[in-house]
Amino acid sequence: MSKPKVLISSKIPQEVEQYIAEHAELVRWPSDRTLSHEQKLAFLHDVEGLLTTGGGIAVNEELLQHAPKLRIASNIAVGYNNFDTAAMKARGVLGTNTPHVLDDTVADLVLALMLASARRVTELDQLVKQGKWQRGKLKDEDLFGLDVHHATVGIIGMGRIGEAIAKRAKFGFDMDVLYYNRSRKPEMEERLGVSYRALEQLLRESDFVVLMTPLTSETTRLIRKEHFELMKRTAFFINASRGQTVDERALIEALQEGLIRGAGLDVFEQEPTDPNNPLLAMPNVVTLPHIGSATAKTRFDMAMRAAKNLVAGLKGEAPPDLVGELRE
Ligand code: GLV
Repeated sequence: MSKPKVLISSKIPQEVEQYIAEHAELVRWPSDRTLSHEQKLAFLHDVEGLLTTGGGIAVNEELLQHAPKLRIASNIAVGYNNFDTAAMKARGVLGTNTPHVLDDTVADLVLALMLASARRVTELDQLVKQGKWQRGKLKDEDLFGLDVHHATVGIIGMGRIGEAIAKRAKFGFDMDVLYYNRSRKPEMEERLGVSYRALEQLLRESDFVVLMTPLTSETTRLIRKEHFELMKRTAFFINASRGQTVDERALIEALQEGLIRGAGLDVFEQEPTDPNNPLLAMPNVVTLPHIGSATAKTRFDMAMRAAKNLVAGLKGEAPPDLVGELRE
C-alpha cells in the first residue's frame, strides 16, 4: 500500500523527517516564489497530512476545498490561530498543536523582554557599540531604567506559559503577580501566590503588562487605545503572544504620546514587520523577530511532537495534542 502524502511547509530536523518518512511520503511546495496561490492550492489535491507552523499555512475553507483527502493538519506551534476549527470540524479534519514543550523557553524570553526594556539593554548596547560611552558625557537619565524586582507584573492570559512567567516573576524577582484570564484559577492562585484582577484593574496596577493569550476571535485587538490610557505612565507593555492581540496603531500612539514608558515585542501585526514600522525607530521599544520558542532543543521537541501528532492522525489513532475545539 502506498504511503499517505504529507506536505511540509517549514524546515524540520533530519531526525524528525526520517521519523515521518517511515510512515508517509514527504512533499514540499517546489518554491514559494514561483507558484501562484492557485498553483499552491492545486498541489494539495492528494495530500492527506499537513505539517505547518502557526504563522504558516491557513487551514481554512478555501484550503480544505482544495485538499479533499486531508485528514490532519499538525502545527509546529502552540498557537493555532491559522486553523479555522469550524471548517475543519465540518470536514472531519483533525488539528493539533505542540503544547508543554515550549512553555519554559517562551517564559524565559518574556523575562528577557521585561529586563531588556526596563533596563534599556538594547538601547544602551547600541550606545556602547556606537562609541558614545565617554567619561563625563552620559547623564543619569541616559542610563537609568526601572527595577524589575519587587515591581508588579500583570499577566493577561494565564495558561501554561503564563504560569511559567508567574513563577519566574514571583520566585526569581520577588514581584507581585496579578493575572487576568477567561476563567479564574483558584488552585494556581494558592500555589503560586498570585492574584486575579479584572482587566482594567490589572492595567491600572501593573508596572509590566504581559500579553500571553492565544489569538482567538475574542482576543483579537484585546488591547486598544483605551487600555493604554489606563496604564501607568511608567509601565512597560510586553507581547509574546500574537501581534493581532493588540491594536498596533494604538500601541504606537500610546508610545508616541507617552501613555506608557516602553515596550518589549516579540510579535507584530504583520510578520515580518515593515521596516518602516514606527516601533522600530523607538529606542524604548525592544523588538524581536518572533523567537519565543527559538532554541534548538525546544524547536526540535516541537517538531518531533508535531510529527508524532501527524503520524497518529494518519494512522487513525487519536493524536495526543488534538486542539480543544476539535475534541468531541
Ligand atoms: C509560536 O508562536 C507558537 O505558537 O508556538
